[in-house]
Amino acid sequence: MLPKELIRFKEQGRHITILTAWDSLSSAIVEAAGADVVLVGDSLSMFIHGHSTTLPVTLQQMLHHTQAVGRGLSSSKQKQPLIVCDLPFLSYQCGEDKAVAAAGTLLKESSAAAVKLEGAEPEVISVIERLIRMGIPVMGHLGLTPQSVHKLGYQKQAESQLEQEKLINQALKLEAIGCFSLVLEHIPSKVASKLSRTLKIPVIGIGAGEDCDGQVRVTADLLGLTDKQPPFAKPLIQTRELCIKALKDWVNQKNNHSKIPTTPTSEQVSDY
Ligand code: KIV
Repeated sequence: MLPKELIRFKEQGRHITILTAWDSLSSAIVEAAGADVVLVGDSLSMFIHGHSTTLPVTLQQMLHHTQAVGRGLSSSKQKQPLIVCDLPFLSYQCGEDKAVAAAGTLLKESSAAAVKLEGAEPEVISVIERLIRMGIPVMGHLGLTPQSVHKLGYQKQAESQLEQEKLINQALKLEAIGCFSLVLEHIPSKVASKLSRTLKIPVIGIGAGEDCDGQVRVTADLLGLTDKQPPFAKPLIQTRELCIKALKDWVNQKNNHSKIPTTPTSEQVSDY
């Protein structure tokens, strides 16, 4: 599926679903669940690599995970969900050439067909324009942008009138320069709803209310794989608890079983 197909989905009133994956096991599950897009999110920095933010993950690591995600998808290209990969921190903030090389490497060496990057400051706008001119489709990301955690924290964004106006202008700009979709994270639902009605490109919400063209979730959050989820990502099942219980039962069973002595006790020896 071409990234621009998502715009057609919006025109047809078809809701868009995006789930994250980081390896072939999770991408196969996400595809079987019917998601339109598999996002190799840089949140894997926390979920898989155990970091406390998305900042440390490298381009090489993102590529490694995106390649694995591609291998987990069905062999039928026609049915495969679109793979979008996050450009990691410092792969696009240092200028256009570096960004083209980073995004180009992801598209060249994996099955990703688009990249996502955060923000809409003038430097980022120039980078996105250049990527799109070079044939690299871009998904925007505004609101809570985790790569700016040291500036914004993890709290809800665009609470004031001024910030809302800024965000709306940035979203309009991202559409004008050719982004094929836009993620809005942790912002007031009325702003996300207004932008969904205003923009022609699909608005994909996470913690931005239900009135968006689509929704994106971190699969590990939905599955309850971690012991802590953000307030806007309630788990559908408590997989972590279920796994711990199942594995605990197995460990106990095996431990009880191995209590049968393998060498004869001193009493058994004296019986001879
Ligand atoms: O990295 C990620 O998982 C993301 C989603 C939260 C949208 O960017």
